[in-house]
Amino acid sequence: MKVTIVGAGAVGASCAEYIAIKNFASEVVLVDIKEGFAEGKAMDLRQTASLNGFDTKINGYTQDYSKTTGSKVAVITSGIPRKPGMTREELIGINAGIVKEVAENILKYSPEAIIIVVSNPMDTMAYLVHKTCNIPRNRVVGMGGALDSARFKYRMAEALDCPISDVDGMVIAAHSDTGMLPLTRLATRNGVPIAEFLSNEKIKHIAEETKVGGATLTKLLGTSAWYAPGAAVSVMVQAILCDQKKMIPCSTLLQGEYGEDDISLGVPCIVGKDGIESIVSLPLNEEEKEKFSSAAEAVRQVNKDLNL
Ligand code: LAC
Repeated sequence: MKVTIVGAGAVGASCAEYIAIKNFASEVVLVDIKEGFAEGKAMDLRQTASLNGFDTKINGYTQDYSKTTGSKVAVITSGIPRKPGMTREELIGINAGIVKEVAENILKYSPEAIIIVVSNPMDTMAYLVHKTCNIPRNRVVGMGGALDSARFKYRMAEALDCPISDVDGMVIAAHSDTGMLPLTRLATRNGVPIAEFLSNEKIKHIAEETKVGGATLTKLLGTSAWYAPGAAVSVMVQAILCDQKKMIPCSTLLQGEYGEDDISLGVPCIVGKDGIESIVSLPLNEEEKEKFSSAAEAVRQVNKDLNL
């Protein structure tokens, strides 16, 4: 099955690389606005095929969406990334116009595509696609929770000094420095709550480091991260293409779930061939509920700038 990735910058190329290397898609199509850029990235990646042992075709095109026809999944990474000191929310002015146009172009050639939104501010961009493209909510999937949860697990494994495969946990709510909600209460090391191993103070520190995970990297790199975002997208695309029914926190349009309506926010979802096949309603405690609703309020304020 075919996957389109729009935006062949660092994040888009990293998505393409991880999807190709895992060998579950028949073709990855990269599209970029910059002349020759997607073609170059695709050719370079294709030349890794014999070295890395994959058969996925990778093709790149400059703004030729006709080549994306029949995509099962399309990933939107286009737009400007944040620079050190910037919040994801500051990107809204430029990225909203880009994301809307890209989504329309995708749907023109692949009207049944499931769209994964990566561009920031992601929850607002996912909401924009919901509001302007008129497609069922299961087909718009915001990538945030998968990445933030991976960063959460990284921080937990560091603090516990244990292999990352020993830890599990999720981050829900907003993909923003202040709106993320790492579910520390439910996080485990081999099924044992992390509170059995770590002090409250350490757990709080893990949560705070997780929330600014993207900002920490932006400061170090001078631009936003790409390896973990690309890997997170590849896991989501694989869940859809292989109909895995995998539980992944994704930004989805809420219609009463978690006490919210008409907003796209990160919640645990079952992801399979139809995109978001269902939403898992977790019984949050009072503190978590409060954090979830203040994250929602902040995202609602940003959504206002879309002037829909
Ligand atoms: C990050 C970007 C993808 O968190 O939002 O790295």
